[in-house]
Formats: sequence, structure tokens, C-alpha cells
Amino acid sequence: MGMRRLLRRRSLGRKSSLNACWGAELSIRPPVEDWATDFDHLDQRWIEDPFPIWAELRSSCPVAHTNRFQGVYLPTRYKDIREVAHDTQAFSSRRLQVRATPPPIKSPAPPITSDPPHHRLARIVLLPPFAPAAIVVQRRRCAPSEDLISYLVAARVDGQPLTDNHILGTLRLLLIAGIDTTGVGSGLAYGILPRHLKTGAGWPSRQ
Ligand code: HEM
Repeated sequence: MGMRRLLRRRSLGRKSSLNACWGAELSIRPPVEDWATDFDHLDQRWIEDPFPIWAELRSSCPVAHTNRFQGVYLPTRYKDIREVAHDTQAFSSRRLQVRATPPPIKSPAPPITSDPPHHRLARIVLLPPFAPAAIVVQRRRCAPSEDLISYLVAARVDGQPLTDNHILGTLRLLLIAGIDTTGVGSGLAYGILPRHLKTGAGWPSRQ
């Protein structure tokens, strides 16, 4: 699930004692007593098999909450997630990290941290370099002035250049968005598929 949808709507001012770094966050954790009011996606049981937890939440408490990670709500039903995604007035995208402490660098990553009306502009500026035709050209001739950074430096939105902060944030987003998703996705497929085929069930269907 996109972390954008795990929304922090208010800071509960709770100071965690586990705020040294991610390593500490992962290793020493108070056990979850109640998934509906104290969920923790870094809990070992969630990491190993989150599906029964989500199924239970969907029927017992479809919008769970935790005071961990500075306070987070978790919608678990498709219709609620859809509603949140579309209601950009009530729900902002400006904070997308779910962690116990604020991120060390306070910098937006447009378009994923943008709300309307800026979201559209930050998104549109990225479309030309990712259009299929542009990718083909990029592969054939890779002159220095045709790389993505040069494109963003030269780009104009409403006649104005993008700020350095915008360009840096977008590049950071593209790096993480491009590596994490594809790497983890194919890694999971390579890991799960052989195990699945071993069961004799054949290739998974599209259903
Ligand atoms: C299997 C691979 C991928 C998956 C499953 C995936 C998934 C997603 C999802 C679910 C979102 C929406 C996040 C949200 O709003 O909550 C998203 C947004 C985004 N992804 Fe990917 N992604 C993948 C690959 C990539 C790649 C390769 C790039 C670029 C190099 C990329 C760039 C972006 C950008 C820029 C956004 C923000 C769009 C916006 O806010 O309008 N993604 N991705």
C-alpha cells in the first residue's frame, strides 16, 4: 500500500524513546496489544504475515489507528482507501513517511508530496521525458544535455524554472520510486514463483 495513504492527521506529541535510528526502531519494539488501536507495521508478526491482521481489521475496525510513528490512521478497505485518495481537501500528501521521528531532511519530493493544484504541474513536467518515444531516443543517443537532470533544469512551469529544491526532491523520488518498486517487485516474484510452482499448482492465474 502506498505510504501516502497512511496519513498522519495530527501529531500526538508523543516522544518515542526508540528514536535513535531505523535500526533501533526495528529491533526494540513494545509488542502490539491491539492491532486496531496500536498497530505497528514493523512488528515481527506483521512482517511475517500481514494478511490475517488486515482481514481482522477490515471486519472489526476498518480504519485502525496507532499512537506510534507520531500518530497514524490506517484505512484497510478498498472503498475507504479510494475515498481518502480522492478527497484531496481533507487528506494531504505532504507527509508520506511513516516513522517515529521526523525525517532528517525536510524536503518535498514532487509530485508524490504535492497536493492540488500544484500536483498537476509537478506531474505534467515529468511526462515528456518518460513518454515511450523519449525513452527510445534516450537509449539511442545519450548526449549530456539530454539527460533527465538537464531536462528538469531547463523545464519551465508557467514560464518559471523549477526551484533547486523541487528538482532535488523530484530526483530523489524518482531514484527511490524506480529502484525500490521494481527491485522488490521482481525479487518477490522470483522468490515466490518457484515456491508456488513446486506445490504443483501450475502458473498463477490472472484471477
Ligand atoms: C513495479 C514498479 C512500480 C510500482 C508497483 C509503483 C507503484 C506506485 C504507486 C502505488 C504510486 C502511488 C503512490 C501514492 O500516491 O500513494 C506510485 C507513484 C509514483 N511512482 Fe511508481 N511504481 C513503480 C515504478 C516506478 C518507476 C520505475 C518510477 C520512475 C522511474 C516511478 C515513479 C513514480 C512517481 C513519480 C510517482 C508519483 C506520482 C504522482 O504523485 O503523481 N514508479 N508508484
